[in-house]
Amino acid sequence: MPQFHVLHGRETSLVLEDCAGAAPLWRYWGPRLADGFAAGPTLADEPCYPGFHMEPPSRLTLFPGLGLGWFHRAALEAHRDGSDFASAPTLQSVEQDGNALIFRLADPVSAVEVTVRLALDPASDVLSVTTTLANRGSAPLTIQWLASAVLPLPPVVERVRSYGGRHAGEFELLEDALGKASWSRNNRHGLTSHDTFPGAVAITAGTTEAAGLAYGAQLAWSGNHGQEIEFLDDGRRQWQLGLGLAPGELLLAPGESLAAPEVLATCSRAGWQGVASNFHAAARARLRWPGGAMKPRPVHFNTWEGCYFDHDTPRLTALADKAAALGIERFVLDDGWFHRRNDDTSSLGDWWPDAAKYPDGLGPLARHVVGLGMEFGLWVEPEMVNPDSDLYRAHPEWALQLTGRPMQTSRHQLVLDLTRAEVADYLFETISAVLHDLPVAYLKWDHNRDLVAAGDQAGSAAYRGQVLALYRLLDRFHAAFPGIEIESCAGGGGRIDMGVLPHVQRFWASDNIDALSRVEMQRGFLQFLPPEVMGSHIGTAPAHTTGRSQSMDFRAAVACQGHLGVEFDLARLGESESAQLAGWIGFYKQWRHLLHQQVWTGMLSDGLCWHAAGNADEWLLTVYRTAPTRQRFMPALPLPFVDRAAGYALRQIGPGQEGAPVHFDGSWLAEAGLPVPPTRAEQAVIFHGARR
Ligand code: DGJ
Repeated sequence: MPQFHVLHGRETSLVLEDCAGAAPLWRYWGPRLADGFAAGPTLADEPCYPGFHMEPPSRLTLFPGLGLGWFHRAALEAHRDGSDFASAPTLQSVEQDGNALIFRLADPVSAVEVTVRLALDPASDVLSVTTTLANRGSAPLTIQWLASAVLPLPPVVERVRSYGGRHAGEFELLEDALGKASWSRNNRHGLTSHDTFPGAVAITAGTTEAAGLAYGAQLAWSGNHGQEIEFLDDGRRQWQLGLGLAPGELLLAPGESLAAPEVLATCSRAGWQGVASNFHAAARARLRWPGGAMKPRPVHFNTWEGCYFDHDTPRLTALADKAAALGIERFVLDDGWFHRRNDDTSSLGDWWPDAAKYPDGLGPLARHVVGLGMEFGLWVEPEMVNPDSDLYRAHPEWALQLTGRPMQTSRHQLVLDLTRAEVADYLFETISAVLHDLPVAYLKWDHNRDLVAAGDQAGSAAYRGQVLALYRLLDRFHAAFPGIEIESCAGGGGRIDMGVLPHVQRFWASDNIDALSRVEMQRGFLQFLPPEVMGSHIGTAPAHTTGRSQSMDFRAAVACQGHLGVEFDLARLGESESAQLAGWIGFYKQWRHLLHQQVWTGMLSDGLCWHAAGNADEWLLTVYRTAPTRQRFMPALPLPFVDRAAGYALRQIGPGQEGAPVHFDGSWLAEAGLPVPPTRAEQAVIFHGARR
């Protein structure tokens, strides 16, 4: 009799089957099976078509081996100085711990032990996969590839949605057909990167935003990574995700073990929005808020696009006054505040206030901000050093480097080797001194270049060590300053991922604040992470990165989808624009409790798209027109997220706008759709819906 290992979530289940002399076979991962279901006959005994196959032929397991009869990608590619390359760990024991299954595998010949923990959270339907590898041999084990997770995809999955992009163009949707050739995405930038998000969503031919089968997975890691979807002989596919490793980067000493980054994976019948909702729930469970719970996300003012490096205390003080008068709640002093930092060519590493710009330090400005009832935030870029800095002149050896290779700068800067304890200590102590002196509630933690010639002191690749050292340093700041929130920024959205999420409280999604560009980027962001951590600002017009202009109303309506901020020179606002902006800030404050709940998004024909947030009882719906109409009438908008059995009162709202309620049946809204008033290009209309 086969032995099955089963986990049930709310709407998904997974099943593995014991197989003598192998790791457990992947039997099923998909929509929920009935309690006490009877599985089909054992897979291990299933006959295969005649041909040159091994006896017995291999099927997909939780941890496929290498060189011993599995001809697809293995979960582990490793060796000991050229030996022990073949490895196929087999099941030793299984333990159930609540909603988790812990599989212990071992291969006595290649002398490795592997533990795979599968935990299916019934609240979110997200499967957490953690894999640990131990070297039980007497020589070091060099690892080239270790899959954090090996996931099965059923034959009906035919397409994959992943994200590409670049600086100021993050979360560009890529949709590829899955054929018999493998699909893969790899990141080699050393940090998460603007162009290769470490996750994807696999769908069937008929899956839409709100309906149909969809599988999502993301690697909780902020460095190099790889993912591959490979066609298998039984028509299924395997999906592997794991660390991207440079040659020789990862050596496990005898007796040592390695915890691979976690993979979060989920399956939904509610299309890729269903996947997104599950991921949001998992992210919310992992966020660590100062004080234990999220406070309403305060409206930011960020000085960057308004001031750049031009810091002048009277001007900043006046900006703070204006920000407070508009209802802004947090004033973030971006780049340009520290020792001799007048442009981007110098000073990274010298983390003390610039004596020329701030002769009395930052105290007067910070206290002024706090006196106005706002929080004070500060920008830092700790992992970086400019060659033109006191730090680099004192410690050129602290930068990542490789003997014989040029010290290649990017934005005039080099990367510090955080794996050196003295470097991490220096950064902690120097920045802590500023934090002790000032009432700082917030750090915007930036990282403005890729890693190249990234060698540590031994000349080995430091990519992985750098990420782990970053996580430790972030935690050290949180432990020493428990009230401080930290934002993950890397030239905009270069470090957005589930790995850094438990160490930060916000992400700067992109340096591109053009609202039209943001519509697509924010939808991509929300595929994996929730709105309350998505930094989205009202920028100026024309937008600095694109040169395009949109109305304040459109810019604000798009920015309200996330954690709202304002980023332009407030001194340029006239009276009526100030009143308009204050209106939007008030609107966001009134509705952020709904904006930061469940999110649904969708596209309609004729250049229309929509974003809704809230719950089945009460929600806000924003309908945008991104392109001019080509039709005579607006199409009606079906709302897949409403309760079909309920009645709703809908009214059009916005700053200073309060339409009369109109009553609709849920089934009408879901199927026939909401009539939307005609809008021009780059305009938005917002509705409030409440169950009657
Ligand atoms: C890149 C960030 O994305 C911007 O928001 C700003 O903080 C600059 N760096 C400052 O140099």
